[in-house]
Amino acid sequence: MDRTLLISEIPSSGETLAHTRALRLITALCHVARTDRVVPVVSAHVSGVSYWNLGPAGLEYLEDLAACGRVRVPTTLNPCAFWPASPPPWVTDDQTRLQARVLAAYEAMGVTPTCSCAPYLTGPAPLFGEHLAWAESSAVTFANSLLGARTEREGGPGALAAALCGFTPYAGLHRMEARRPRVGVRVTADLGEPWRAGLLGAWLGRTLGATVPLLTLDGRRVPDRAGWQALAAALVTYGGAAIFHVHDHTPEASAFCDLPHQIVVTEAELDAEGVRQIDLLPGEGVDLVFTGCPHGVPGAASPFPAGAPSPGRPWALFARGTRHRHELPIHPPDTADRSLALPGGCPAVSPLPGEVRAVATDSAKAAFYLRSRGLRVGVASTGACAEISVTGRWPHAV
Ligand code: F3S
Repeated sequence: MDRTLLISEIPSSGETLAHTRALRLITALCHVARTDRVVPVVSAHVSGVSYWNLGPAGLEYLEDLAACGRVRVPTTLNPCAFWPASPPPWVTDDQTRLQARVLAAYEAMGVTPTCSCAPYLTGPAPLFGEHLAWAESSAVTFANSLLGARTEREGGPGALAAALCGFTPYAGLHRMEARRPRVGVRVTADLGEPWRAGLLGAWLGRTLGATVPLLTLDGRRVPDRAGWQALAAALVTYGGAAIFHVHDHTPEASAFCDLPHQIVVTEAELDAEGVRQIDLLPGEGVDLVFTGCPHGVPGAASPFPAGAPSPGRPWALFARGTRHRHELPIHPPDTADRSLALPGGCPAVSPLPGEVRAVATDSAKAAFYLRSRGLRVGVASTGACAEISVTGRWPHAV
């Protein structure tokens, strides 16, 4: 039985303006969710860290809160645009200062600047049944599905409000009813490569919308950790379900009655999804290659080969998070071979070089957000992306 409270019972100790504002927002979110109960959370994960998403009003709001607010539960940060001590060469000093102010405001509130979209990898993973207030959709889906923790898909302000007062509305995926699968799916496709698991997530999202699936995996290989991350990220991006269950792989699958297989996903469906994910023509020039979505373990090595500087070579960006501030770089990156680590950053929410029009990535989720910025995108395996970072051309066969 979950330990919940009425909103009016939230303890008020040492209130500040920030906590009062946070409580007001939690109350409003409870009204929207048609509940008068809240549940204590063990951690929060806040999005809205890139200055390019926040803008001047968002920064002012954060600096106001930071003047008096302190988080009451362990709180981590989603990726920013780029780590200010190590800015990519195409950003200006002004842009760097603005990004640094956002991070300083969060740190003043006691938020740990992990700057990762995989908070279950940068610190201890949440335990089964724990309630969280997380705001990164891929992390929300991973925590609900693979870990059996409970979090709604919070917005950035809602997650920050929960961090400041320690409670979130007791609604949605915090309750068992919303976690129940509604459709049985048999997958015979091989999910050994993470990008193929991402294609499955995109296909399921397009086909099922927000309906929660119960999967049976009958293919040659099941996903590894990166594959589960890719599946979670793409499912919620293309459909909206922030939870899925998998027989013999996810902790809540056995808690529900079995469902007949109404849908079968074979290699053919994933191949068709792969074709849908390519806007680029064979031989077309690629300006930027991006891997690391969602972020992997801190300190993971870049898949891009180092090489001699060459003007025709695309920018190759590898994003990853960190455990602690001191793991982040203190010097600008070496850009000689145009292959950059983007520690704490995410190209989907950061300024890109002006010449970038065509992007290759191994992530179905990243493809969605890069397309929404008006870019032409192709999704391919990590190995193929590494090759494209050398040839600068979309291949004739992926
Ligand atoms: Fe993370 Fe950015 Fe992908 S936030 S999930 S690397 S689009």
